[in-house]
Amino acid sequence: MVSRIQELKEKNNVVILAHYYQEPEIQDMADFVGDSLELSRKAAGTDADVILFCGVHFMAETAKIVNPSKKVLLPDMDAGCSLADSAPPDKFKAWLEKYPDHVVISYINCSADVKAMSDIICTSANAKKVIESVPKNKKIIFAPDRLLGQYMIKETGRDMVLWNGTCQVHEIFSEKALIRLKVKHQQALVLAHPECDENILVHADFIGSTSALIKKVGQTSNKEYIIVTEPGVIHHMQKHNPGKEFIPLPSNTGCACNECPHMRLNTMEKIISSLENMDNEITLDEQVRIKALKPLNRMLKIV
Ligand code: 13P
Ligand code: SF4
Repeated sequence: MVSRIQELKEKNNVVILAHYYQEPEIQDMADFVGDSLELSRKAAGTDADVILFCGVHFMAETAKIVNPSKKVLLPDMDAGCSLADSAPPDKFKAWLEKYPDHVVISYINCSADVKAMSDIICTSANAKKVIESVPKNKKIIFAPDRLLGQYMIKETGRDMVLWNGTCQVHEIFSEKALIRLKVKHQQALVLAHPECDENILVHADFIGSTSALIKKVGQTSNKEYIIVTEPGVIHHMQKHNPGKEFIPLPSNTGCACNECPHMRLNTMEKIISSLENMDNEITLDEQVRIKALKPLNRMLKIV
C-alpha cells in the first residue's frame, strides 16, 4: 500500500499531511505530521498541486481556504469533529448578534462558515498569544470550545463570552482513572491537552497543544508519562523516545472513546482510493473562502 501511495503521489504531485491522531501507518507514510497549527502552516506553504489531508474535515477545509487553486482531498468525507459540529453557522450567526461589540476569536476546529464570521482564528498552540493580541479594552467571544475557553480565561485573566462546544474525546477522560494511575505510577509526568475539563487539568504537570506535549517528552528525563489526550500521539512519542513508557488515560466509559472516531475513519485503503480517483475533494463557496481567509491570515501573521 505504501508503494502504491508513493506511485500515485509522484504521478499527481501530491503532498500528504497528517495529524498526530492518525493511525501509526498513516503517520509513517505521510510527508509531514503535525498538530493543527503546524499543518495549517504547512498547507499554506506547499508547492504541491494536490494536498491529501489525513485529518478531519475542518483541517482539509483550512488547507483549501489558504490554497484555492490546489486540489484538497480528504480520504473520508465523514471525518468530522464534535467541536465544529457544535457550532452550526445559522445558530452561531444569531448568537453573535447578541454581542455586537465583541472581537470573535474562533478555535480552528470550526467550519469555514464560522471562520468567515470570526475576527481571528487560533489553535491550542497559540490561543494565549492570540487572546493577548486583542487590546485589553475590547470584549472577546471565544468559540466553539468551552473547555479550552475556560482554561484560557484562567491563563490570560480575560473575561470572555464562551460558546458551549466540547471535544467529545477530551471531555470524557476519567478523573478517577487518572488518580489511580498517578498513585500507581508516582514518578510519571502527567501531560494533558487543554481541550480537557478542569477536573482533569488540575491533576496535570504540563498542559499544552499536541506538539507542545510531544516537545515536553523530549525535554524531560522522566521514564513514565501519563498521556491525557488522543493516544495517537503516543506513536510519535514512542518512536522518538524508545526508552520511555507512555500510559494512555482511559475515558470514563470504559470504551476506547479516547480515540477520535472521526480522525480514525481515514485508512490506507481510503487514501489509495481517493488518490486513484482524485475524489473526496473539498470545495468551498468563494465568498465564504475569502471571508474565512482574513481571520486565518491574521492568526498566521501573529505567531
Ligand atoms: P491540536 O492539534 O491543535 O493540538 O488540536 C488537537 C485536536 O483535537 C485536533 O482536532
Ligand atoms: Fe474534533 Fe476532538 Fe476529534 Fe479533535 S479529537 S477532531 S477536537 S472530536
